[in-house]
Amino acid sequence: PGSTVDQATGYLTVAGVPAPELAEAYGTPALIVDENAVRARARRYADGLAARWPESRATFASKAFPCTAVYRLLAEEGLGIDVAGGGELTLALAAGADPAGLVVHGNAKTEEELRLAVEASAGLVVIDNFDDIDKLERILAEPRYRGREQGVLVRVTPDIRPDTHEAVSTGQSGSKFGLLLPDAERAIARLRGSDRLRLDGVHVHVGSQILDTKPFAQAVEAVAALGEFDVYDLGGGLGSRYTYGDHPPTVEEYLDAVIDVARRQLPSAARILIEPGRSMVAEAGFSLYRVVSVKRSGGHTFVAVDGGMGDNLEVSLYQQRFEATVATRVGGGEPCRLVGRHCESGDTLSADVPLDDPRVGDLIAVPVTGAYTYSLSNNYNGARRPPVVFVRDGRHRAVVRRETYADLMRRDLP
Ligand code: LLP
Repeated sequence: PGSTVDQATGYLTVAGVPAPELAEAYGTPALIVDENAVRARARRYADGLAARWPESRATFASKAFPCTAVYRLLAEEGLGIDVAGGGELTLALAAGADPAGLVVHGNAKTEEELRLAVEASAGLVVIDNFDDIDKLERILAEPRYRGREQGVLVRVTPDIRPDTHEAVSTGQSGSKFGLLLPDAERAIARLRGSDRLRLDGVHVHVGSQILDTKPFAQAVEAVAALGEFDVYDLGGGLGSRYTYGDHPPTVEEYLDAVIDVARRQLPSAARILIEPGRSMVAEAGFSLYRVVSVKRSGGHTFVAVDGGMGDNLEVSLYQQRFEATVATRVGGGEPCRLVGRHCESGDTLSADVPLDDPRVGDLIAVPVTGAYTYSLSNNYNGARRPPVVFVRDGRHRAVVRRETYADLMRRDLP
């Protein structure tokens, strides 16, 4: 997805640039992003939502890809930005995002982080627990914020269990996120009596990588039952097409499903926000690796590459399945086990993927790695986190450089 094959060479290309040219320019591993694909997806969300519900805004859940170039790109496309905590808030502001469009999340927001949000005039803070209310009340009571009112949403946990991996399921009873209905109602009552916090509405997010529309529709029903508000933030969660076997709803099918319930059950003057993360960026990105070793052992062909769980934790955390291909010989071949370079048996990018005669030095592309890879990348085994490369109209540029060994030592004190 997002890339094509040059018929003359058989090479994988993205926005007109052959994969070997990118590997030559930036080395491997590298995270390659088709810039126009992200823009197109952002427009599809924004326009699709506006066409169905004029008082609305698509907001990017920036945890999926929190680098300033991505914030800038999506801010340019007119999206709001969802930030989880002070770090993402700081990045979004540094990238020039409009503070009024910020939605500040987190189940453990410190007073310092809430202060950052208030200081920045962030549009909405999402109340996840009663402590958020206490802290915000305390901050806004300070003389310097006299006359200020902070808009807030209450995050509701509706006890909906989408059919997705447990680790990315957030809407069920027993989740650490949000407030179950009776508590949400108590929080709403308390906020209605607050002078400093302005209750704008409610928020719901039931999970990620959701592959059918039903849980989204149920989530809208759940927030509708809470009463009338100015704002309903319906969260994110739409799944992406990682493997040929995945068939997530399209953006339009997703929007139809939620807006259909909204038309019947939400006040027509209300403002609707959605917060897609994964589905905004996943399919626009792919990871480029180089084969370091090919070993036949125990009935498997192990193809080991120069990256792995340092730049893609999705397999370790959620058993996410990925396709892969030799970038210069796209298509099938013998079944291989594509593994990373890290000291962990679970460091597998794809347990069983057909690769065409993989050899040491070959380039391997793993598609659909635009979401939650950069954000979860790490330095395990002293790995240097890879660069992020934007490609557009046959041109490419690094927007994040590769870490150096000096970077690995930068915070160590003598
Ligand atoms: N809104 C809230 C409040 C969220 O917690 C999330 C994701 C989103 C929106 C965006 O959901 P999306 O559209 O991306 O599904 N690290 C995991 C994913 C965790 C998702 C956390 N919350 C992974 O690598 O798969």
